[in-house]
Amino acid sequence: MKENYMVCNCKQVSYADIANALHVHNKFTDVLEAFEDVQKVTHCSTGCGGCHQKVLDIISEILMGPEKA
Ligand code: FES
Repeated sequence: MKENYMVCNCKQVSYADIANALHVHNKFTDVLEAFEDVQKVTHCSTGCGGCHQKVLDIISEILMGPEKA
C-alpha cells in the first residue's frame, strides 16, 4: 500500500505520516514551507538526508490533490 510506504527509513516516516502532517495544517503557499512543517512534525529527512527529494515529491503530490494518472 502506498500509505504504508516508508519514505524515510532513518526516522521511520511513512507516506501516511507525511499526509497526516500536511493535513494538520492545510494552508501552504509553497512546497518548501510545507516541507519544513512536515519535518518539524515527523522529523523526516533529519538523518542521512537521502529521502529529501522523495519527501518533496510526495508533498507536491499531496498538495496538488489526487493524481490524474
Ligand atoms: S532516509 Fe530520511 S533521513 Fe535518511
